[in-house]
Order: sequence, then C-alpha cells, then structure tokens
Amino acid sequence: MNAIEIRNLTKTFGEKRAVDGLNMTVPQGAIYGFIGENGSGKSTTEKCLCGLLPPSGGEIRLFGKDYREEEVRAHIGVLIESPGCFPNYSVWNNMKLQAANLGLGHADEEIRRVLHLVRMDGAAGNKFKNCSLGMKQRIGIAFALLGSPRLLVLDEPINGLDADGMRIMREVLTELSGKGCTVLISSHILGELEKIATHYGIIRGGKMLKEMTAEQLNADCPTYVALKTDEIEKTRDILQRTYGRADIDEQTGEIRVYGAYAEEVAKYLFGNFGIAVSEIRTAKISLEEYYINLMQEGRK
Ligand SMILES: Nc1ncnc2c1ncn2[C@@H]1O[C@H](COP(=O)(O)OP(=O)(O)O)[C@@H](O)[C@H]1O
Ligand SMILES: [Mg+2]
Repeated sequence: MNAIEIRNLTKTFGEKRAVDGLNMTVPQGAIYGFIGENGSGKSTTEKCLCGLLPPSGGEIRLFGKDYREEEVRAHIGVLIESPGCFPNYSVWNNMKLQAANLGLGHADEEIRRVLHLVRMDGAAGNKFKNCSLGMKQRIGIAFALLGSPRLLVLDEPINGLDADGMRIMREVLTELSGKGCTVLISSHILGELEKIATHYGIIRGGKMLKEMTAEQLNADCPTYVALKTDEIEKTRDILQRTYGRADIDEQTGEIRVYGAYAEEVAKYLFGNFGIAVSEIRTAKISLEEYYINLMQEGRK
C-alpha cells in the first residue's frame, strides 16, 4: 500500500493554476524528496494533501483511503512554515499547549517521547525565543510528531540550518523512517536531501515532471574522471576521440571523461602525448547537477 497517492490534483487561485494535474506516489516508509523551483507548487500540493487547502480537482488517497476521512487525518503530522510558538514560553509549555489543542491524553509522556526523538530532551526548559533556528525547526517537527503520525509532511525544514543542525535533522528523519514513518520533505538543498531520500519527485509548473527511486537516480548519474591539464582543449579532443565522451566543465576548468578509469587516463595522456595531468579524481553526477540538467532540457 502507498502512503500517498495523488491523481490529477489541481488547485487554482483565481486564474492561477498553482497545481495543474499533478500525480504523485509515495510508498510507505519512504523518505520522499519533493523538489522544484520556487513557485512550482510544492507547498500548495502539501497543503492540499494535509487538508489545509481544498483542492480544485483530483483525487488524494492516504494509506489507501480518501484523505478527508477522519481516521486518516489523525495519522498525519505537518510542519508547513514555522511552528506557532509563544516566544516567552518554555519549549515544554509550548508543547503542553499544542498537546492540549490536539486533545492528547498522557501529554507529559508523549511530549517527553517526541522531544527525545528530535534530540531536545535537555532543552525542554529553554524559552522558545532563546532556541537556535535548528532547535526551533526540531520543535516544529516535535509538534508534528505528537500523536505518532504514520506520515510526516515537512515543508522546507532544513532551510537556514548550519552543518550541525542539518546533521541532527538527518539523523532524526532517518530514525523516524526506520520506525516506519513515511516522510514527505520538500527542500531545495539537494546535497542534503540526497543523503537521506529514498525516493524523489520533481515538480515543475504544478505538474510532476519525474518520480524516481534513489537507485534509479543513482543509475542515471554516471561516474566520471575529472582532471586538470595545461592543454585543456587539446586534451579534451584526444579524450573525446578515445573514450567517446569528454567535456570541459566551464566552472571548474576540469575535463570530464565518462566511462574511464583515472589511472588509465593519466598514463595514456602522458605516455602517448606527453601531457601531464595536474589533478585527477573520480566523481559522480550529483542530484543537484541531475536536477539542473533536467530543468535545462525542459527549457530547450
Ligand atoms: N494563497 C495563494 N493565493 C494566490 N496564489 C498563490 C497562493 N499560494 C500560492 N500561490 C501561487 O501558486 C504558485 C505555487 O506556489 P507554492 O505552492 O507556494 O510553490 P512552492 O512551494 O513550490 O514554492 C505560485 O505561483 C504562488 O504564487
Ligand atoms: Mg513552498
């Protein structure tokens, strides 16, 4: 069974089609990275599936049931924009208020559980206003986790976090996913997303451009040898002839050769042409590059 199945979702604001016939499939247990340019319709899609905005058309099923069913709604945790917290209240008291709003029983126990999950056990007494951005984002996730949701919807939760904040967030989401919670996370920090996502959906102009698993992305992102020499054009032409595909990366000034081994390329260039290689390494196309290429193809 899939956690989320969206068919032909449309959401219009006046003349504007923010979401335009979007399809999306998120398997249970996935960490689904939802990617797209600003204004492409990510937040609107998320708001529709969480019941925060009424769709103009289409079908949304969560765990095999219509998304409007009460029983389904109880299993969704949401963080869209920042959590509504009182700055002068402690983290604990903010959590208590949220738990009361939700009408949760065993509130203290539940709050301890979720604060532990987001690595905030020691910070319950801190005033919200004194928390770092990373802590505030994790409190938002703790809010969303009250009541043990089976699906967590997070809209850009890692924006503005420092390296440590990112690392903790990564650990938290991976742990939750390991416990069977499905996570839908939108972000444009693709380097981070790539470290945790098991599935991806790329949206453009309100339509799903591509959905794939991390394995499929991996297969679509070839490895290459990157090297630097003084005679860049000449070297590129030689490698192009020998290996079939060699490009110059304008930004780094490196030559990229696909389908080759670093050591073999260096020996070949020096042995046959006396070309010395100053730097050489093996690398792989990143999600970021894959995404940029996909967007550029779409514009042609
Ligand atoms: N409440 C709204 N009223 C009018 N237009 C909106 C509203 N919310 C979003 N939009 C428009 O819908 C499009 C998609 O927005 P959004 O879903 O926020 O994109 P994303 O989250 O991918 O940046 C944008 O063009 C945005 O300006
Ligand atoms: Mg958004």
